[in-house]
Amino acid sequence: MNYRHGFHAGNFADVFKHAILARILVYLTRKDAPLRYIDTHAGAGRYDLTSEAAKRSPEWRDGVGRIVKARPPAEVAALLRPYLDAIGPCDDDGRPDSYPGSPALAQTLLRPQDRLALSEAHPEERAALIAALGRDRRLSIVATDGYVALNAYVPPKERRGLVLIDPPFEEPDESARVEAALAAALAKWPRGTYALWRPIKAPIEDARFLNAIAALGAPNILRLELDVGVVAPGAHSPNPLRAAGLLIVNPPFELIAEARVLMPWLAQALKRAAGGGFVRQWLTPPA
Ligand SMILES: C[S@@+](CC[C@H](N)C(=O)[O-])C[C@H]1O[C@@H](n2cnc3c(N)ncnc32)[C@H](O)[C@@H]1O
Repeated sequence: MNYRHGFHAGNFADVFKHAILARILVYLTRKDAPLRYIDTHAGAGRYDLTSEAAKRSPEWRDGVGRIVKARPPAEVAALLRPYLDAIGPCDDDGRPDSYPGSPALAQTLLRPQDRLALSEAHPEERAALIAALGRDRRLSIVATDGYVALNAYVPPKERRGLVLIDPPFEEPDESARVEAALAAALAKWPRGTYALWRPIKAPIEDARFLNAIAALGAPNILRLELDVGVVAPGAHSPNPLRAAGLLIVNPPFELIAEARVLMPWLAQALKRAAGGGFVRQWLTPPA
């Protein structure tokens, strides 16, 4: 386990993932009924963008750094507001005091009646996560493998909620593990909302992954992808990522229309070079 999210915190892929995550949580929290947020690969919770990792790999500058300085149209600004509020104040460079990872974002957006179940296998990242989120009776943070924990947590007793599956994709069998974990979770909790993040590196391999997820037979899977175009190699990123995707199983109805507004704006705001763009379509249509 070499992956450290601190090298990538606040980059374009984080902005895309976290802005959509915030929209899903905004909708799920509109009903009073409690919900469960399950984060299978939680990371360190919050990231100091003045840290050595962020200095060696300042990916945030072309991610959150651009977004907080942008002047989006009112419709986009309203959709980004919960995400930007969770980020909080930024300096003149567009650097936040700290960048909230998925657990901190969820902690901010969830209510007293909700619960967060977070898995983080790396001891140092888990210690940072515990410190970052502080004392909060809604939280459960475990060292258990995220896929094993997912199987134990679903269906949650609330019968409502969101699962984020956001592994590092360092191991060659990671996609196969995601497929198997989603299949098992859907068999136990078909009505849950699931967000699967993935880097898009090789089109053929990515098409194989999409086919495998579609073949699970679950309806109602929204496919969102963001490609920022060619990214020049950096000192810490010899093969920098240029595209990432989210598959959202059972998305809140409103997200479908919101993605029509957000995706083109994010693609424009985060673009690095020609050749980028976005995808917004059904992987499998609603039943
Ligand atoms: C991409 S990062 C998570 C980022 C986080 N979800 C966010 O959006 O802020 C992936 C994390 O998964 C952790 N990890 C790796 N293998 C794991 C496993 N089998 N179970 C749980 N966590 C794991 C890594 O240590 C790393 O912190």
